[in-house]
Amino acid sequence: MTEVASVVFGREDIRRRIEELGRTITGDYEGRAPVLVSVLKGGSLFLADLIREVHLPVAIDYMSISRYGGAAESMGRVRIVKDLDEDIGGRDVIVVEDIVDTGLTLSYLLSTLRSRDPASLAVCALLDKAVRRIAPLTIRYRGFECPDVFVIGYGLDFEERYRNVPDILAVHDLAALREDPDLLLPYLPGERPTA
Ligand code: IMP
Ligand code: MG
Repeated sequence: MTEVASVVFGREDIRRRIEELGRTITGDYEGRAPVLVSVLKGGSLFLADLIREVHLPVAIDYMSISRYGGAAESMGRVRIVKDLDEDIGGRDVIVVEDIVDTGLTLSYLLSTLRSRDPASLAVCALLDKAVRRIAPLTIRYRGFECPDVFVIGYGLDFEERYRNVPDILAVHDLAALREDPDLLLPYLPGERPTA
């Protein structure tokens, strides 16, 4: 019997990679004060850890979007449920995402943000499922190349669950998880995976 899930990126790998990303961003934006924009909800954990590795006077802001159907059906068109609080005109903006899959959502979001005339606009994504890309886009800062499997943890959810799993897990048996959404409870903080 195959396990339902297994760790692909452990918490220590994630921590180290974010440290590196933070150092790179710090160097690239020296003398500037970028605005880091997170797309709720998944990207919020990554943003919180990332900003503590960026040694610059950054600002943070959040956006919340809702899709019309799945990413592919909606062709990336999204409705902005919560917009940024601040005007990004003339600012250096870094969009911080948990995962870029087809890229449809993000490319739509980027065109919206670009129309507000930021001084610069870059993407920082923790995970890049490059083989799934439909909408081409440049990810200037990338944490890890992600295998083409459904992943959860570190902000990523399965039906709003498991965002608080400290590691990133690959789900090998989605059907089993749909059948029993409690299957991954052993991976929650403080629990010890039995598998
Ligand atoms: P895209 O428009 O296909 O790039 O969709 C990206 C969004 O889909 C991400 O911000 C996630 O919210 C969600 N997503 C994509 N792949 C996964 C996954 O493997 N696990 C959990 N959420 C995912
Ligand atoms: Mg997301």
